[in-house]
Amino acid sequence: MKTTRMMQAVFVAAVCALAIGATRARQGMTAAVPIDGDDIGGIVSGPKGPEAGVWVIAETTELPTRFVRIVVTDDRGRYVLPDLPKANYTVWVRGYGLIDSPKTTAQPGKALNLTAVPAPDPRAAAEIYPAGYWLSLLKVPEKSEFPGGAGISQGVKNQADWIRLIKSGGCTSCHQLGTTGTRKLPKDFDHYPSSVLAWERRLQSGQAGTNMIQTLGQIGHDRALALFADWTDRIAAGEVPQAPPRPQGAERNVVITEWDWADPKAYLHDEVSTDRRNPSLNSFGKIYGSLELSADYLPVLDPQEHSIGQVKLTVRDPNTPQTSQLMIQPSAYWGTDPVWKSKNNVHNPMYDEKGRVWITSAVRPPDNPAFCKSGSEHPSAKLTPLERSGRQLAMYDPKSGKLAHQYVLQHASPDVRRGCE
Ligand code: HEC
Repeated sequence: MKTTRMMQAVFVAAVCALAIGATRARQGMTAAVPIDGDDIGGIVSGPKGPEAGVWVIAETTELPTRFVRIVVTDDRGRYVLPDLPKANYTVWVRGYGLIDSPKTTAQPGKALNLTAVPAPDPRAAAEIYPAGYWLSLLKVPEKSEFPGGAGISQGVKNQADWIRLIKSGGCTSCHQLGTTGTRKLPKDFDHYPSSVLAWERRLQSGQAGTNMIQTLGQIGHDRALALFADWTDRIAAGEVPQAPPRPQGAERNVVITEWDWADPKAYLHDEVSTDRRNPSLNSFGKIYGSLELSADYLPVLDPQEHSIGQVKLTVRDPNTPQTSQLMIQPSAYWGTDPVWKSKNNVHNPMYDEKGRVWITSAVRPPDNPAFCKSGSEHPSAKLTPLERSGRQLAMYDPKSGKLAHQYVLQHASPDVRRGCE
């Protein structure tokens, strides 16, 4: 089944400085790149010699969950993929100005020189540019058109506000724009008489359709649709963004590790690995994620074992509402299947000093008990009466493996702003 990129946002990436990089760079004055028994290393060259600042990617599905490690070549085209768990890896080169090299298979402990493949034209090179580079091709209304220009929402005060709604406040608060899925119209919408109508239809897709159309309205329905349609029309006709620079300096010293989490119908909203007040708590321990509207479990990643697990979540009151199953139009990817089914709607997990994981989680319907509302004598309610709350609290204790639903009251100290979370 075809899935969208954003629905598969189930990776977690850990980035750490490659402290051994400098040492290895010095040792590597000879042609060969020194490696240990659990590294893969070598030189990447293209037709003009060593390729600097390109990514070497090693991927395997032989571990309990899919595992990817990525490094960058130095100025002499050298790379080391360090400390790989034992497995067969598919290895290839990706970089600005290139198309992906053919994939080869390698095992840790193996020296592996790779051949980079130059892109035959700017279009082929641009396929892997970051989404934001593609989005930069979107035309923006002139400053003089604000406020109140043709097809622009009255609420948008100026050009900066319009741009913010697209690139951080509105659309992009949920997903990137400029990814392959968003910069091309899917074949399903080919039969629409204009790109504007195809765009209107595609924004009605799936369980987020209502939200997308509302966001479009905030920006200004007609003008935004016209500009989005013009954007993808020009891209379909061959327009490409400017090339990004290759990683430079310290950017070449990173090691990125990615693991597949959760499942194809879930999306990852947030994750926690430690107590932010004591960041050595839970070193190398399990990482807990939250799947927001999509599913009722905490995805768990063990970055040592490269394995994943699930903490099943429950509600206190079976009448806790589920993510809305309504959609204005079916998804081009999922059809009429509502893929989000959560009741808990978990937002952000937090470790406390005892290594327990607290989550904002719905456990009951949103109407608050009387003691939270105005008229109550409770000090918190007096300070901040709350009629409804979208989420409450739950806590998972990894030591006991138990999940607890917390009641709503907090201490009535003067700094308590919200009594009934
Ligand atoms: C509430 C979160 C949310 C917001 C806000 C949002 N989107 Fe989406 N968007 C989604 C989801 C989820 C999908 C996948 C829909 C599906 O299942 O087909 C999607 C899909 C898309 C697609 C691909 C649809 C297709 O099938 O071709 C485009 C294009 C898109 N969004 C653009 C936008 C634009 C432009 C905005 C702002 C006006 C926006 N989105 C705001 C969540 C959101």
